Amino acid sequence: MTTTEDLTTSLRTILEKYDTSRDNLIPLLQDIQEHLDYLAPEAVSLVAEHLDLSENDVYGVATFYAQFRFHPPGRHRIKICQGTACHVRGGGMVLDAISRKIGIVPGETTPDGNISLERVACFGSCALPPVMVVDDTVYGRMTPRKSEKLIEDLE
Ligand code: FES
Repeated sequence: MTTTEDLTTSLRTILEKYDTSRDNLIPLLQDIQEHLDYLAPEAVSLVAEHLDLSENDVYGVATFYAQFRFHPPGRHRIKICQGTACHVRGGGMVLDAISRKIGIVPGETTPDGNISLERVACFGSCALPPVMVVDDTVYGRMTPRKSEKLIEDLE
């Protein structure tokens, strides 16, 4: 378990790589998310302080981009492609089916911490649309029914 002190120390190490120019906001948030897997409130606060912005400014920019998460990911991470090839072959229906089944929208994690759901632009597997990734396994040619079955098989 990471303590608040550990978290602050690791975040400060990341912050030190960037000067205080506001142009660093997105790269800094990306770097932190890569490190923590999400943008913790402490991270947003330290970034705001480092770049001399308000926390509202940082949240305002971060929430504009679908890539940023504000909650820790679940034990299982489900990503559903909404890139063009997948979208035209029903990626939206797969996403809706999963979203209904587990009761969360993309960007959220189920209250039991078991599953998080994300929409992704393109996995580079466009020959197999629509594509869904469960943890590190890529599944192609999904249908709402097939995707629901995959979810049922998750612990
Ligand atoms: S558009 Fe879905 S994998 Fe490329």
